[in-house]
Amino acid sequence: MSDPRLAELSRRLPELRVLTAPAELEHYGRDWTRRWTPAPLAIVLPTSAEEVQAIVRWANEQRVAIVPSGGRTGLSGGAVAANGELVLSLERMNRVLDFDAVDRTLTVQPGMILQHVHEAARERGLVYPVDFAARGSCSIGGNIATNAGGIRVIRYGNTREWIAGLKVVAGNGELLDLNRGLIKNSSGYDFRQLMIGSEGTLGIVIEATLKLTEPPPPSQVMLLALPDMDALMQVFALFRARLVLQAFEFFTDHALRHVLAHGAQRAIDGDHPYYVVTEFDAADEHQQEAALTAFEQGMTEGWISDGVIAQSEAQAAALWRLREGITESLAPRRPYKNDVSVRISAVPAFLHEMQALLAREYPQAEVVWFGHIGDGNLHINVLRPDGLAEDAFIAQCEHVTKLLAVTLQRHGGSISAEHGIGLVKRAYLESTRSAAEIALMRGVRQVFDPNGILNPGKLFADD
Ligand code: MLT
Ligand code: ZN
Repeated sequence: MSDPRLAELSRRLPELRVLTAPAELEHYGRDWTRRWTPAPLAIVLPTSAEEVQAIVRWANEQRVAIVPSGGRTGLSGGAVAANGELVLSLERMNRVLDFDAVDRTLTVQPGMILQHVHEAARERGLVYPVDFAARGSCSIGGNIATNAGGIRVIRYGNTREWIAGLKVVAGNGELLDLNRGLIKNSSGYDFRQLMIGSEGTLGIVIEATLKLTEPPPPSQVMLLALPDMDALMQVFALFRARLVLQAFEFFTDHALRHVLAHGAQRAIDGDHPYYVVTEFDAADEHQQEAALTAFEQGMTEGWISDGVIAQSEAQAAALWRLREGITESLAPRRPYKNDVSVRISAVPAFLHEMQALLAREYPQAEVVWFGHIGDGNLHINVLRPDGLAEDAFIAQCEHVTKLLAVTLQRHGGSISAEHGIGLVKRAYLESTRSAAEIALMRGVRQVFDPNGILNPGKLFADD
C-alpha cells in the first residue's frame, strides 16, 4: 500500500478490507447522481463497530475525510467521493441483530438493504412500513442519513418516525447509544433525531433499532387519468375524505411516455395530462364500495377522465410500475432533479406559479413532473434538450433552481423534501433554513465532528 496513511490504517486493523483498484474506486465513489467524477483515496469495508470506531479515530489523527456509504442510490450527491476521501462502505454490516416481539422492534446493521428489512419484518408477522422504488438497492443506514420518505409517507410518515434507537460513531470517534429503544424518554436533547437526516455529517450509524407495526389491511390499487392539476387536488381531497389512503402518487404524461418506452404496460387508453396511482384500505365491501362511489363522483364532477382498478396482485404491481419505474426510465438521460415540498394546502398555488415559471424559463427542455402529491412533495426532473451542451444545461438548470428556491421561500417550502441537500442543493440551503438556523447547524457539527472529517462539503457549501 503506497499511501503511508493507508499503510498505518492496515497496521492498526490488519483484518480490514481495503480496496484501491481503479474500478473499485469508481464504483464506490459515486451515487445515482452521476454528475461528479469519483476520486476517493480508498474504500474500506469494516465488519464491526470497533473497526468503524478505529477508522474514525485514525481519520481524525490523519485528517482524512470520510464519506459514509450505503447503497449509493442517493440523488443529491451525499455519497459522492470526488476529493480523495476514504469511502467507508457499510455493506458488509448487513445483518439482523435482534428482534423483540414485545417491543415490536428489529435491530439491524446499517448496511442491510431496505427490501431485506421488509422481508425480515414480514417473516416475524409485522412490517417496517417505509418504502420506495429503490428498496432493492438502498440501505437502511442511508435511509436514516437522509430521513428517507417515499410512497407511504401519507400513511406512515418518514424514516424518522420508525427509529427507536441508534448506535453511532460520532465524528470525534465516540460511540453513542442513543435512546435505546425507549418509547418515552424525556431526558433532554434527542441526539437520535439529530442524527436522522444529518447526511453523514455528524456520525456513522452502526446499529439501528427499528419500530415495526402490524401489516396494513388488504388494499386496492387504482390508476386515475386526470385533466389538470386543479382536478388532481380535488380528487385528492375527495379520496382522502372518503378512503383510508396508503399512497397517493402522481405523474404526468411525459413521465408515462418514458416508463412505457422502458417496458411498462399501458393501463389507460388515450392521452391524459396527469395520472394518479392510489392505494387504499379495502378490507370489506363497505370500503370497496366507498372507493367506487368516490371514483364515480370524481367522474361526474369532471375531475377524473378515466380510471382502472387492479383486479389482482399482478395488476396492482403493473399499475405501481407506471409510477415506480419513472426514475429508472429517466436515468439514461441524467435528468437534473429538483425534489421540493410545500404544505399540502400550498400545493395548488405553488404548482400554478411553478408551471408558469418553467414554461417561461425552459421553453425547449422537457420537464417531467411526478411525486408524492399527497405529502406536498414534487419531483421536477429536467431533461437536457438535444444539441445543448451538458455544462450549458447545468448552468441553465441552476439558474432556474434559484428562481424555484425563491418561489419555494415565498410558499414556506423546502428545497429538499426527501433526497437530502448533499452536493446538489447545498448552494440553496439558505432558501429553506434561516441564517440563525444554519449557524446553529454548523455549531452542532463542530460539537460532534470538531475536525470536520465526516462527509465534508455535503450540506454546507463552504465546509
Ligand atoms: C421517487 O419518488 O421515485 C424517488 O424520490 C426517486 C426520484 O425522485 O427520482
Ligand atoms: Zn420521491
